[in-house]
Amino acid sequence: MTEDHIDLEDAERVLEEGHYGMNKVKRRVLEFLAIRKLNPEGKGPILCLVGPPGVGKTSLGTALASAIGRKFVRVSLGGVRDEAEIRGHRRTYVGALPGRVIAGLKKAGTRNPVFLLDEIDKLATSLQGDPGAALLEVLDPEQNHTFSDHYLEVPFDLSKVMFIATANQTETIPPALRDRMEIIEVPSYAPFEKLVIARRHLLPKQVKLVGLREDQVVVSDDMLVRIIESYTREAGVRKLEQQLAAICRAAALEVSRTDAEVFELGEEALIDILGTPRYHPELAMRTRRPGVATGLAWTPVGGDLLFIESTRMPGKGHLSLTGHLGDVMKESAQAALAYVRTHARELGVPEDFLEREDIHIHFPAGGVPKDGPSAGVTIFTALTSLLTERPVRNDVAMTGEVTLRGDILPVGGIKEKVLAAHRGGIHRVILPAQNEHDLRDLPEGTRSALDFVFVHEMREALEVALSDEPAPVPEVPVSLPDKGVSGSDSTPQANA
Ligand SMILES: Nc1ncnc2c1ncn2[C@@H]1O[C@H](COP(=O)(O)OP(=O)(O)OP(=O)(O)O)[C@@H](O)[C@H]1O
Ligand SMILES: [Mg+2]
Repeated sequence: MTEDHIDLEDAERVLEEGHYGMNKVKRRVLEFLAIRKLNPEGKGPILCLVGPPGVGKTSLGTALASAIGRKFVRVSLGGVRDEAEIRGHRRTYVGALPGRVIAGLKKAGTRNPVFLLDEIDKLATSLQGDPGAALLEVLDPEQNHTFSDHYLEVPFDLSKVMFIATANQTETIPPALRDRMEIIEVPSYAPFEKLVIARRHLLPKQVKLVGLREDQVVVSDDMLVRIIESYTREAGVRKLEQQLAAICRAAALEVSRTDAEVFELGEEALIDILGTPRYHPELAMRTRRPGVATGLAWTPVGGDLLFIESTRMPGKGHLSLTGHLGDVMKESAQAALAYVRTHARELGVPEDFLEREDIHIHFPAGGVPKDGPSAGVTIFTALTSLLTERPVRNDVAMTGEVTLRGDILPVGGIKEKVLAAHRGGIHRVILPAQNEHDLRDLPEGTRSALDFVFVHEMREALEVALSDEPAPVPEVPVSLPDKGVSGSDSTPQANA
């Protein structure tokens, strides 16, 4: 056992120094430490940090160990699909080994390290048993003082280990396991938060790595903003760190090759090093045509804008839906159509429209699977806009679940969604009234830049979203960008 040196002020300083923001997480960690200090024998809960890639979950876990002076072990559970990896093999087998938990403790050399279970949402199950089930015993404070590893054959006391888990999403964590942990959400960063992180943490770290002094690499705030906006599009800061690393490498070469003492990043050098800008500040889609609306989606890698297009054509009342939709979303579309039919007179739609027409609703980025109820408001709006021939205002985005009667219900992922709206150049966001308190999680800069409208029912949302000017006839057909979820091949599902 190592002795704990829990000095709360010290711990707070270490956490503050290493990581910007993440206030909710830091606070929870400090509470945890305070309780450990007051009651060293108590059974602590197991914290699980959940958030998009690159927001600092793993790195905060590491910092925590040094904050309280314990040893640190990290085990990545991604792709672990054999129960024996957790619990070890019986010694009758040739080449038997203890499981990763015991092996980790052996490596740490103490039985009370900080033990980071990284990527716990990527555990797999297979014919070799269910590693998630074996982890239940490890993570349950009621059971883990007699953890049994097949290799050891005697119970081992894990109760002094401080387990922390990380995950990108909670949905894929086995439910029994999720139940035993306390989930702490680590949200993604707004652009100006990234600027502070780059300035205070990422740049100094990279400069040091290439062996230069901090005053030898000069990157202005303007340049940092350019890098954040034009060369990265992500929820976290990992790509940003890579881009800064590339700049520092170039600086190292420049300083060693010439006699220059200082490398200052100029416009030309920026394009030289990072290439032409990859992303352009995404302008809100100019949806000046009835039937097109902008929604907001949540994905494991952050929020995203979600466009919905609808068209009508001569037919017999058939509704087609395309764009790789899940059942919940398809049902939202059915419900939307029913709502418009019920309220046809009040909306100014001919009541018998379905007798002569077919309706088609499409979600661009057809390759990305989409599901969830929160596109309800957007589908309702797109459909109403199509049938009333009033276009949707182009600076408005929305999210919310709608019931058949038109009541709007709260949805999740508000912070990510609103940040995506801000990135996308949206000015006004329509949110369910019951989500109002979620805005507290938003950074002040984002909150003041956007105009929020809270609605209880569909009628209010339509009032805000639909514009009264008749739609201009577009000269060039409006084409929607095929929005993929930022550059990964294994496209995660977008939940709207
Ligand atoms: N708030 C922050 N302050 C300072 N540095 C940060 C912050 N957030 C992230 N970083 C830095 O970003 C990099 C990526 O973070 P990290 O590897 O911890 O991400 P992660 O959340 O574990 O992502 P993943 O889900 O992909 O594992 C690290 O170098 C980390 O130090
Ligand atoms: Mg990680």
